[in-house]
Amino acid sequence: MLGARALDALIEGPVVPSFTLIGYEARSRLFDWRPLADYDLTGKTVVLTGGSSGLGYAAADEFARLGATLVLVARNPEKTERAVASLSKEHGSDRISGELADLSDLGQVRAVSERIREAHPVIDVLIHNAGALLPERREAPDGTEITTQVMVAAPFLMTTLLLDPLRAARPGRAVTMSSGGMYTSGLTVSGLQMKESEYNGPQQYARAKRAQVVLNEMWAAKIPKAEIVFHAMHPGWADTPGVDAGIPGFGKLMGPLLRSPEQGADTMVWLAADKSLEQKTGLFWHDRAVRSTHKFKSTARTDTPARREALWAWCEQHTGVSPAL
Ligand SMILES: NC(=O)c1ccc[n+]([C@@H]2O[C@H](COP(=O)([O-])OP(=O)(O)OC[C@H]3O[C@@H](n4cnc5c(N)ncnc54)[C@H](OP(=O)(O)O)[C@@H]3O)[C@@H](O)[C@H]2O)c1
Repeated sequence: MLGARALDALIEGPVVPSFTLIGYEARSRLFDWRPLADYDLTGKTVVLTGGSSGLGYAAADEFARLGATLVLVARNPEKTERAVASLSKEHGSDRISGELADLSDLGQVRAVSERIREAHPVIDVLIHNAGALLPERREAPDGTEITTQVMVAAPFLMTTLLLDPLRAARPGRAVTMSSGGMYTSGLTVSGLQMKESEYNGPQQYARAKRAQVVLNEMWAAKIPKAEIVFHAMHPGWADTPGVDAGIPGFGKLMGPLLRSPEQGADTMVWLAADKSLEQKTGLFWHDRAVRSTHKFKSTARTDTPARREALWAWCEQHTGVSPAL
């Protein structure tokens, strides 16, 4: 009889069983996952970007249920207000607030980080969840390709500006929602922003998601885990408005094999809540287990120390901040 770990490895190899509902159902049973409802986040502060929709909203609902003080950072005033109102109604809570910021605008990222830092001197968990796959190339207000701005530059800036309140949690946790799509891309800094003539939405997305995972490892190497731990993850494939908009037809193709938003968000909540995650840092997670960051030799070859340093330097130069390490 194959053991649970061997079965998990069998599921992990080919992408489809791992990323779909099959992976979630099999692993939750094989490893007898502790139900999220058993965790208690009373007295903990969670800051979550992109909490107005999809995986972010599903996670927000769970965080509110578990008693956390929750700050949703999102860009659409009506959607954000609706999300805060419905979470507050459901959980009877005045611990839930919304902060408006379009993360493609680094001025707004600075301003929202400042407001959050003033209101919350201790942040237990910061989750970089906001993101999108854009079929057509778009630019941020400063001319940066928007996927990279929202998923790479903005989280780098926000983490840097929130280091003090994260450190005050001893340890704070920074969680980055990447994607299994990053397996298709190597690390590139010169190609981090695809030009109009070569633009391909899934490839641009994969490059930014790869950069997120590399930065997660770099933060973890620079900041002791007694101060802040860093976790990156991918959710598999979940049925969200983001998937509908980014990959039209994918939901129809996958049908009932797609995960629900709650199932896609499970590992995000677990990374924020489980005590054992205070002892680990710099790893890449999926379905509550550490996963490799490369599936192909061709992408692994691109991930060199020099390129990593170039990525960090790009982030510092682009955002105009140098983290206090
Ligand atoms: N669903 C999946 O299968 C899947 C798979 C792999 C990775 N992911 C990742 O999971 C995360 C959540 O995605 P989702 O599927 O839940 O998509 P979603 O339903 O579209 O949610 C994305 C959230 O990010 C917000 N957002 C996007 N751009 C923003 C910006 N410039 N400023 C502020 N907020 C912004 C969205 O706000 P609006 O509501 O205003 O648009 C929304 O709240 C993303 O990082 C995505 O790449 C998802």
